[in-house]
Amino acid sequence: MDLKKYIADVPDYPEKGIVFRDISPLMADGAAYSFATNEIVKYAKDKGVEMIVGPEARGFIVGCPVAYELGIGFAPARKKGKLPRETIEVTYGLEYGEDTLQIHQDAIKPGQKVLVCDDLLATGGTIAATIELIEKLGGEVVGTAFLVELKDLYGRDRIKGYDVLALMEF
Ligand code: PRP
Ligand code: ADE
Repeated sequence: MDLKKYIADVPDYPEKGIVFRDISPLMADGAAYSFATNEIVKYAKDKGVEMIVGPEARGFIVGCPVAYELGIGFAPARKKGKLPRETIEVTYGLEYGEDTLQIHQDAIKPGQKVLVCDDLLATGGTIAATIELIEKLGGEVVGTAFLVELKDLYGRDRIKGYDVLALMEF
């Protein structure tokens, strides 16, 4: 399936010079959303994944249906101040700005094989921070999966040594 036709390009959002790659048309189409989810499910099965982690907010959109299909758990990595119990945190840079991600202290069991899911790989700041959180808790990141990769921002270089699945490249 040609997934690229379900991505809307929005010039100069959220600031001048950024082309925002909006995944909401893909989510709005049942067949496209299901196809994309199943591609990641196949990848996760190959990797023996036991737990999914997704960074807020669009990582939830991609990661939760994958976890549901596999019958395994999902742990959210959330922006600072959103998780109610004891957390650990990492601050990171973005294509536009800076943010802090937190995860619950008990979200991952030591040795658990984890797949990180997100909508988009840009500079790699978010995925690197999420990997750091998982590893601090003793999890093993066996793969990362994205709908979209923005090649000219070199996010893969930020997470050298980790396997990357990207369903579309721009
Ligand atoms: C976006 C996107 C990825 C991240 C990619 O999230 O959903 O998580 O940026 O950029 P990076 O590779 O440079 O880190 P954003 O922080 O805008 O949050 P949102 O999902 O809540 O909109
Ligand atoms: N997150 C970081 N960069 C982005 C972009 N260009 N489009 C959509 N989400 C993003």
